[in-house]
Amino acid sequence: MRRKFVAGNWKMNTSFQSAQSLAREVASAVAASNPAVDVAVCPPFPFLWPVQQVLVGSPVALGGQNAYHEKSGAFTGETSLDMLIDVGCQWVILGHSERRQFFGETDASINRKIAASVERGLGVIFCIGEVLEDRQAGRTETVLETQLAGGLAGFTATQLQKMVIAYEPVWAIGTGVTASPEQAESAHAFIRNWIAMHIDASLATALRIQYGGSVKPENAKEILSQPNVDGALVGGASLKSDQFLGIISAAAELARV
Ligand code: 13P
Repeated sequence: MRRKFVAGNWKMNTSFQSAQSLAREVASAVAASNPAVDVAVCPPFPFLWPVQQVLVGSPVALGGQNAYHEKSGAFTGETSLDMLIDVGCQWVILGHSERRQFFGETDASINRKIAASVERGLGVIFCIGEVLEDRQAGRTETVLETQLAGGLAGFTATQLQKMVIAYEPVWAIGTGVTASPEQAESAHAFIRNWIAMHIDASLATALRIQYGGSVKPENAKEILSQPNVDGALVGGASLKSDQFLGIISAAAELARV
Protein backbone atom coordinates (compact mmCIF):
# COMPACT_ATOMS: atom_id res chain seq x y z
CA MET A 1 0.00 0.00 0.00
CA ARG A 2 1.23 3.49 -0.83
CA ARG A 3 1.88 5.63 2.23
CA LYS A 4 0.01 8.88 2.01
CA PHE A 5 2.03 12.08 1.74
CA VAL A 6 0.70 15.48 2.80
CA ALA A 7 2.88 18.48 1.93
CA GLY A 8 2.31 22.16 2.65
CA ASN A 9 3.28 24.64 -0.03
CA TRP A 10 3.49 27.92 1.82
CA LYS A 11 4.09 29.84 -1.42
CA MET A 12 5.18 33.48 -0.82
CA ASN A 13 3.72 33.68 2.68
CA THR A 14 4.85 33.86 6.32
CA SER A 15 7.56 35.87 8.06
CA PHE A 16 10.67 34.67 9.87
CA GLN A 17 8.65 34.46 13.07
CA SER A 18 5.39 33.08 11.75
CA ALA A 19 7.23 30.47 9.65
CA GLN A 20 8.99 29.19 12.74
CA SER A 21 5.88 29.12 14.86
CA LEU A 22 3.81 27.41 12.16
CA ALA A 23 6.53 24.78 11.73
CA ARG A 24 6.75 24.33 15.51
CA GLU A 25 3.01 23.75 15.83
CA VAL A 26 2.98 21.25 12.96
CA ALA A 27 6.09 19.43 14.16
CA SER A 28 4.91 19.03 17.73
CA ALA A 29 1.44 17.82 16.77
CA VAL A 30 2.85 15.35 14.24
CA ALA A 31 5.39 14.06 16.74
CA ALA A 32 2.64 13.60 19.35
CA SER A 33 0.16 11.81 17.10
CA ASN A 34 2.70 9.91 14.99
CA PRO A 35 0.37 9.52 12.00
CA ALA A 36 1.08 6.79 9.42
CA VAL A 37 1.48 9.55 6.85
CA ASP A 38 4.50 11.39 5.45
CA VAL A 39 4.43 15.12 6.09
CA ALA A 40 6.51 17.93 4.63
CA VAL A 41 6.47 21.72 4.71
CA CYS A 42 7.84 23.94 1.94
CA PRO A 43 8.54 27.45 3.23
CA PRO A 44 9.90 30.36 1.17
CA PHE A 45 13.69 30.23 0.62
CA PRO A 46 14.75 32.72 3.34
CA PHE A 47 12.88 30.68 5.96
CA LEU A 48 14.13 27.23 5.01
CA TRP A 49 16.97 27.36 7.49
CA PRO A 50 15.01 28.79 10.45
CA VAL A 51 12.28 26.22 9.81
CA GLN A 52 14.85 23.45 9.51
CA GLN A 53 16.11 24.45 12.98
CA VAL A 54 12.63 23.94 14.34
CA LEU A 55 12.23 20.59 12.57
CA VAL A 56 15.42 19.00 13.92
CA GLY A 57 14.51 15.54 15.22
CA SER A 58 10.95 15.83 13.89
CA PRO A 59 9.32 13.47 11.39
CA VAL A 60 8.24 16.50 9.34
CA ALA A 61 10.41 16.91 6.24
CA LEU A 62 11.53 20.14 4.62
CA GLY A 63 11.10 21.06 0.96
CA GLY A 64 11.92 23.95 -1.35
CA GLN A 65 9.32 25.45 -3.69
CA ASN A 66 11.60 25.64 -6.73
CA ALA A 67 15.26 25.42 -7.74
CA TYR A 68 17.51 26.12 -10.70
CA HIS A 69 19.15 23.23 -12.50
CA GLU A 70 22.69 24.66 -12.65
CA LYS A 71 25.13 23.78 -9.87
CA SER A 72 26.44 27.30 -9.16
CA GLY A 73 27.57 30.43 -10.94
CA ALA A 74 26.34 33.72 -12.32
CA PHE A 75 22.59 33.17 -12.07
CA THR A 76 21.42 36.14 -10.04
CA GLY A 77 18.39 35.43 -7.93
CA GLU A 78 18.43 31.68 -8.40
CA THR A 79 18.80 28.88 -5.84
CA SER A 80 20.58 25.62 -6.61
CA LEU A 81 19.57 22.14 -5.60
CA ASP A 82 22.80 21.77 -3.64
CA MET A 83 21.82 24.83 -1.61
CA LEU A 84 18.47 23.24 -0.80
CA ILE A 85 20.18 20.02 0.23
CA ASP A 86 22.69 22.01 2.27
CA VAL A 87 19.97 23.54 4.43
CA GLY A 88 18.27 20.20 5.01
CA CYS A 89 15.68 19.85 2.25
CA GLN A 90 14.56 16.37 1.30
CA TRP A 91 12.04 17.61 -1.25
CA VAL A 92 11.67 20.18 -3.97
CA ILE A 93 8.45 21.22 -5.71
CA LEU A 94 9.05 21.56 -9.45
CA GLY A 95 6.77 22.70 -12.25
CA HIS A 96 4.14 24.34 -10.08
CA SER A 97 1.49 26.04 -12.22
CA GLU A 98 2.37 29.42 -10.69
CA ARG A 99 5.96 28.94 -11.90
CA ARG A 100 4.66 28.02 -15.34
CA GLN A 101 2.16 30.89 -15.42
CA PHE A 102 4.15 33.78 -13.92
CA PHE A 103 7.78 32.81 -14.47
CA GLY A 104 7.76 31.26 -17.90
CA GLU A 105 8.66 27.71 -16.90
CA THR A 106 8.20 25.19 -19.67
CA ASP A 107 8.11 21.42 -19.83
CA ALA A 108 11.70 21.57 -21.10
CA SER A 109 13.02 23.76 -18.29
CA ILE A 110 11.18 21.63 -15.73
CA ASN A 111 12.73 18.53 -17.29
CA ARG A 112 16.21 20.00 -16.70
CA LYS A 113 15.34 20.73 -13.10
CA ILE A 114 14.03 17.22 -12.52
CA ALA A 115 17.21 15.81 -14.08
CA ALA A 116 19.39 17.87 -11.75
CA SER A 117 17.31 16.81 -8.72
CA VAL A 118 17.48 13.16 -9.70
CA GLU A 119 21.25 13.43 -10.06
CA ARG A 120 21.54 14.80 -6.53
CA GLY A 121 19.03 12.41 -5.00
CA LEU A 122 16.55 15.06 -3.90
CA GLY A 123 12.88 14.00 -3.86
CA VAL A 124 10.83 15.82 -6.49
CA ILE A 125 7.19 16.81 -6.23
CA PHE A 126 6.43 17.27 -9.92
CA CYS A 127 3.30 19.36 -10.48
CA ILE A 128 1.02 19.08 -13.48
CA GLY A 129 -2.52 20.19 -14.20
CA GLU A 130 -4.82 21.78 -16.73
CA VAL A 131 -6.32 25.26 -16.81
CA LEU A 132 -10.09 25.76 -16.84
CA GLU A 133 -10.22 26.43 -20.56
CA ASP A 134 -8.57 23.08 -21.26
CA ARG A 135 -10.94 21.21 -18.99
CA GLN A 136 -13.97 22.87 -20.53
CA ALA A 137 -12.70 22.00 -24.00
CA GLY A 138 -12.21 18.36 -23.00
CA ARG A 139 -8.42 18.62 -23.28
CA THR A 140 -7.47 17.63 -19.72
CA GLU A 141 -5.82 14.34 -20.64
CA THR A 142 -3.99 15.83 -23.63
CA VAL A 143 -2.53 18.54 -21.39
CA LEU A 144 -1.51 16.04 -18.72
CA GLU A 145 0.07 13.83 -21.33
CA THR A 146 2.09 16.73 -22.80
CA GLN A 147 3.29 17.80 -19.35
CA LEU A 148 4.20 14.22 -18.39
CA ALA A 149 5.99 13.48 -21.65
CA GLY A 150 7.90 16.78 -21.57
CA GLY A 151 8.77 16.85 -17.89
CA LEU A 152 9.77 13.20 -17.69
CA ALA A 153 11.52 12.83 -21.05
CA GLY A 154 14.62 10.67 -20.88
CA PHE A 155 14.27 9.21 -17.38
CA THR A 156 14.38 5.58 -16.35
CA ALA A 157 12.14 4.07 -13.67
CA THR A 158 15.12 3.79 -11.29
CA GLN A 159 15.80 7.52 -11.58
CA LEU A 160 12.20 8.37 -10.76
CA GLN A 161 11.80 6.15 -7.74
CA LYS A 162 11.68 9.08 -5.29
CA MET A 163 9.41 11.22 -7.45
CA VAL A 164 5.93 12.20 -6.39
CA ILE A 165 3.48 13.71 -8.88
CA ALA A 166 1.06 16.39 -7.76
CA TYR A 167 -2.05 16.72 -9.88
CA GLU A 168 -3.16 20.31 -9.43
CA PRO A 169 -5.96 21.47 -11.70
CA VAL A 170 -5.17 25.16 -12.06
CA TRP A 171 -8.84 26.13 -11.79
CA ALA A 172 -8.96 24.59 -8.32
CA ILE A 173 -5.89 26.38 -6.92
CA GLY A 174 -6.75 29.09 -4.43
CA THR A 175 -10.30 29.33 -5.75
CA GLY A 176 -12.16 27.35 -3.13
CA VAL A 177 -13.44 25.14 -5.95
CA THR A 178 -12.07 21.65 -5.45
CA ALA A 179 -12.08 19.01 -8.14
CA SER A 180 -14.81 16.50 -7.37
CA PRO A 181 -13.51 13.19 -6.02
CA GLU A 182 -14.47 11.64 -9.38
CA GLN A 183 -12.58 14.28 -11.37
CA ALA A 184 -9.49 13.84 -9.19
CA GLU A 185 -9.66 10.06 -9.33
CA SER A 186 -10.04 10.04 -13.09
CA ALA A 187 -7.02 12.34 -13.63
CA HIS A 188 -4.91 10.36 -11.13
CA ALA A 189 -5.79 7.07 -12.78
CA PHE A 190 -4.87 8.56 -16.15
CA ILE A 191 -1.49 9.72 -14.81
CA ARG A 192 -0.72 6.33 -13.24
CA ASN A 193 -1.67 4.55 -16.42
CA TRP A 194 0.48 6.90 -18.50
CA ILE A 195 3.49 6.13 -16.29
CA ALA A 196 2.81 2.40 -16.61
CA MET A 197 2.56 2.60 -20.38
CA HIS A 198 5.46 4.97 -21.05
CA ILE A 199 7.95 4.38 -18.24
CA ASP A 200 7.40 1.33 -16.10
CA ALA A 201 4.52 -0.65 -14.59
CA SER A 202 6.03 -1.21 -11.17
CA LEU A 203 7.05 2.45 -10.92
CA ALA A 204 3.41 3.31 -11.69
CA THR A 205 2.14 1.00 -8.94
CA ALA A 206 4.48 2.50 -6.34
CA LEU A 207 4.13 6.13 -7.50
CA ARG A 208 2.45 8.50 -5.09
CA ILE A 209 0.14 11.01 -6.73
CA GLN A 210 -0.94 13.94 -4.58
CA TYR A 211 -3.98 16.05 -5.31
CA GLY A 212 -3.68 19.83 -4.94
CA GLY A 213 -6.30 22.56 -5.24
CA SER A 214 -8.37 23.97 -2.37
CA VAL A 215 -7.84 20.97 -0.10
CA LYS A 216 -9.33 21.69 3.34
CA PRO A 217 -10.01 19.54 6.40
CA GLU A 218 -13.68 19.44 5.32
CA ASN A 219 -13.04 17.90 1.90
CA ALA A 220 -9.77 16.04 2.55
CA LYS A 221 -11.25 12.69 3.52
CA GLU A 222 -13.47 12.43 0.47
CA ILE A 223 -10.64 13.22 -1.95
CA LEU A 224 -7.97 11.23 -0.12
CA SER A 225 -10.17 8.14 -0.01
CA GLN A 226 -10.07 7.80 -3.81
CA PRO A 227 -8.00 4.75 -4.75
CA ASN A 228 -5.46 6.67 -6.84
CA VAL A 229 -5.12 9.70 -4.56
CA ASP A 230 -2.08 9.21 -2.33
CA GLY A 231 -1.89 12.51 -0.54
CA ALA A 232 -2.30 16.24 -0.89
CA LEU A 233 -0.25 19.26 -1.82
CA VAL A 234 -1.87 21.98 0.26
CA GLY A 235 -1.57 25.72 -0.30
CA GLY A 236 -3.79 28.07 1.71
CA ALA A 237 -4.83 25.54 4.35
CA SER A 238 -1.18 24.70 5.10
CA LEU A 239 -0.71 28.20 6.53
CA LYS A 240 -2.99 27.48 9.49
CA SER A 241 -1.68 24.71 11.69
CA ASP A 242 -5.14 23.49 12.75
CA GLN A 243 -6.27 23.18 9.13
CA PHE A 244 -3.08 21.51 7.94
CA LEU A 245 -3.20 19.13 10.91
CA GLY A 246 -6.86 18.40 10.12
CA ILE A 247 -5.85 17.28 6.62
CA ILE A 248 -3.03 15.14 8.04
CA SER A 249 -5.52 13.53 10.45
CA ALA A 250 -7.91 12.76 7.59
CA ALA A 251 -5.07 11.05 5.71
CA ALA A 252 -4.02 9.17 8.86
CA GLU A 253 -7.55 7.90 9.46
CA LEU A 254 -7.62 6.46 5.96
CA ALA A 255 -4.26 4.81 6.52
CA ARG A 256 -5.79 2.93 9.43
CA VAL A 257 -8.74 1.43 7.55
P1 13P B 1 -4.55 25.93 -2.52
O1 13P B 1 -4.60 24.78 -1.55
O2 13P B 1 -4.41 27.27 -1.87
O3 13P B 1 -5.66 25.87 -3.52
O4 13P B 1 -3.19 25.76 -3.38
C1 13P B 1 -2.89 24.54 -3.93
C2 13P B 1 -1.50 24.58 -4.44
O5 13P B 1 -1.19 25.27 -5.39
C3 13P B 1 -0.49 23.78 -3.73
O6 13P B 1 0.72 23.73 -4.45
